[in-house]
Amino acid sequence: MVKIPFCKVACDGNELEYVREVLDSGWLTTAGKTHTFEERFRECVGARFACAVNSCTAGLHLALEALGVGHGSKVLVPTMTFTATAEVVRYLGADPIFLDVEYGSSLITPEILTGAIRKYPGAKVFIPVHFGGQAAPLLNENGRGLLDLCRESSIDVVEDAAHAFPAKCLGRMVGSLGNVTCFSFYANKTITTAEGGMVTTNDPAIAKRVKVMRLHGIDRDVWNRFTADKPSWEYDVVAPGFKYNMPDLAAAIGLAQLERADHFRKERERCARFYLERLAGIDAIDLPHVCCNMEDHAWHLFVIILNERSPVSRNQLIKIMAERGIGTSVHYKPLHRMTYYRERYNLRPENFPNAERIWKGCVSLPIYPSLSDDELDYICNVIWKALGEE
Ligand SMILES: Cc1ncc(COP(=O)(O)O)c(C=O)c1O
Repeated sequence: MVKIPFCKVACDGNELEYVREVLDSGWLTTAGKTHTFEERFRECVGARFACAVNSCTAGLHLALEALGVGHGSKVLVPTMTFTATAEVVRYLGADPIFLDVEYGSSLITPEILTGAIRKYPGAKVFIPVHFGGQAAPLLNENGRGLLDLCRESSIDVVEDAAHAFPAKCLGRMVGSLGNVTCFSFYANKTITTAEGGMVTTNDPAIAKRVKVMRLHGIDRDVWNRFTADKPSWEYDVVAPGFKYNMPDLAAAIGLAQLERADHFRKERERCARFYLERLAGIDAIDLPHVCCNMEDHAWHLFVIILNERSPVSRNQLIKIMAERGIGTSVHYKPLHRMTYYRERYNLRPENFPNAERIWKGCVSLPIYPSLSDDELDYICNVIWKALGEE
């Protein structure tokens, strides 16, 4: 029986060697490996500062806190995302404002943002999600990008780049563009540390605040306290911070993954090209709208959308594929459909027409480096058959 999981981590580089170094060092949590990981990641995205944290959710929380989001603040977020993007807004007592997305890419476009800024004057922060690994149009060759629009309205930008390493916007690395960018290294992401995340910024004040708040509001790095030649017990607490630091064990895996990130991305691009070519003729499917160069896309997800011409429903296709041994997923059930947000903010599906169309038909296909051309061929054949277009 064929078994193709939805995702599969590749840990076939220097992971074991670097983890062994940490185990042998006598100190397992935040210290030298985390600092090296921060430095390498920072160089890779071209940002001035990088702060490793224990999840992207923690990073988003810290970023909003550093920008002064609090009770009464309004934060613009897409509805087509994971709950983490909006829940961090609630952690701070602020309110998310949910925006519809573009059909096909699930991104917020300049047109959507322009309408939202007009409708909700006074929004403090915008969180674009680089859905599936494709950068939202922060910069725009032929007009104003999302960053221009935000700058004109004094809105800060915190990028949710959970899917988007390594990705580029008009040739510039995601991670060096908005006020703050947050990456995820959760187990199913493009590179992983099991659990983990990274905050990057060019703003020294934000970097300082994130560093202090990720570790209890202590005014110095704890690893200095425990590992310096002359350890000092003394430290001060300048704010009620959080416990969001990344342990060296995780950073060791991250360093090895980072070395292979470009190779992983190329392999996922191979999968995406295969799907785009082989599924192009199916009338019942809308393929992902790729608005950037294929090489600039991180290709974390490959989402097809069954349209109104499909002979089977989304759930039926998922069932058929599961019966043939193929794992799939759904990105996403939009946040306006989730009980908490729907009830608290009185959200109605008719205000999110594109997200509704996507949600009704979307299926995420397997996409990872070790997925072979034979497996891709098998998946495409199953989809062709299921849609009656053999
Ligand atoms: C769009 C998006 N944002 C944020 C997160 C949260 O990432 P983490 O699990 O690292 O906190 C995820 C995780 O899946 C995500 O998909």
